[in-house]
Amino acid sequence: MTRPWTLARRTGRMNPSVIREILKLTEQPGVISLAGGLPSPDSFPVEAMRAASERVLRDAPREALQYAASEGYAPLREWVAEHMAGHGMHVDASQVLITTGSQQGLDLVGKVLIDAGSRVAVESPTYLGALQAFAPYEPEVVTIACDDEGPLPDSLRAAAGARFLYVLPNFQNPSGRCIGEARRAALAAAAEAAGLPLVEDNPYGDLWFDAPPPAPLASRWDAGTVYLGSFSKVLAPGLRLGYVVAPRPLFPKLLQAKQAADLHTPGFNQRVVHEVIRDGFLRDHVPTIRARYKAQRDAMRAALERHFAGLGCRWTVPHGGMFFWVELPPGIDATALLPKAVARGVAFVPGAAFYASEAKPNTLRLSFVTVAPPLIDAGIAALARVLKEAA
Ligand SMILES: Cc1ncc(COP(=O)(O)O)c(C=O)c1O
Repeated sequence: MTRPWTLARRTGRMNPSVIREILKLTEQPGVISLAGGLPSPDSFPVEAMRAASERVLRDAPREALQYAASEGYAPLREWVAEHMAGHGMHVDASQVLITTGSQQGLDLVGKVLIDAGSRVAVESPTYLGALQAFAPYEPEVVTIACDDEGPLPDSLRAAAGARFLYVLPNFQNPSGRCIGEARRAALAAAAEAAGLPLVEDNPYGDLWFDAPPPAPLASRWDAGTVYLGSFSKVLAPGLRLGYVVAPRPLFPKLLQAKQAADLHTPGFNQRVVHEVIRDGFLRDHVPTIRARYKAQRDAMRAALERHFAGLGCRWTVPHGGMFFWVELPPGIDATALLPKAVARGVAFVPGAAFYASEAKPNTLRLSFVTVAPPLIDAGIAALARVLKEAA
């Protein structure tokens, strides 16, 4: 019998997410997972969601359960446009496309902007999920030189002619780094001078601990920047609700790609979220998430200082977001370390998966948001024991 299916060539570029695979491992009972970037479920606004769902089902049940506009629920698009004004971006609601998570925004951007063989520039390291989203469109991925703050503006010249630079200015996944004001200004200017468009991904910007991050790149070069936002980290990821703010010439193609992908993001979810946030709910809610994650960041910082002392590791303390990024001593391969760590009851994500090229095998990502401080300390202590054995 002949094999009935022939896979498309692009499937050769598709890989299972390393993180999802690791999450399966960590589902074993007794493993403290510092791996997945799962928001703390204690931060989900369950009561507000319940009340808003009831109101939507009472006041607009037929509309909420019907097919809806591909662009998104108009009042939610208006809300996003107003929210962006608070970040120094002057956008019209007609430039806002509601997406099924910002992950869909990445896919739509890839679909609309990448031809097979065209160049796409990324940071080093970068968000694994973006590499996964772009891969089926068969780009040639070029890595921009970065330091502890992010991409080096001078290195953008080497990427001139690329379709775009994918950049995460705020508390980057995975490195936790945040680009400062001067670097942002220089990056936006360098990108514009090089004619290199930007895809700015910002799911973590509201989760700052000490001071809000500087204004987005999109506020500095709006015609050359596609901006992605998400409700996953400020409300709940299960809603699958994000948005793309696009320069006008791009919007129709992104919309057509969205239509083909899923017609529209669930209208019920959009209405419920709008109902929750319309009267300023996030003004009170987001600070509670910040306080929670800041305490957990502090717990992980203290645990690293206590247990990793003298192990030759390097890390920087993130000022927001969800992750510590740790460089182990040269020669220690974090991927090889992972099974030993899981056997000892702790999991992390090896850093190699976050590099498009020239991976540093001695890096790893630790999330401080999913488990409570006592378990953070126990997890870091267990990891330190594994490292001592490996040394
Ligand atoms: C940098 C980055 N972009 C996008 C996403 C996808 O988020 P969403 O839940 O909005 O699809 C994530 C999720 O962790 C992320 O870390």
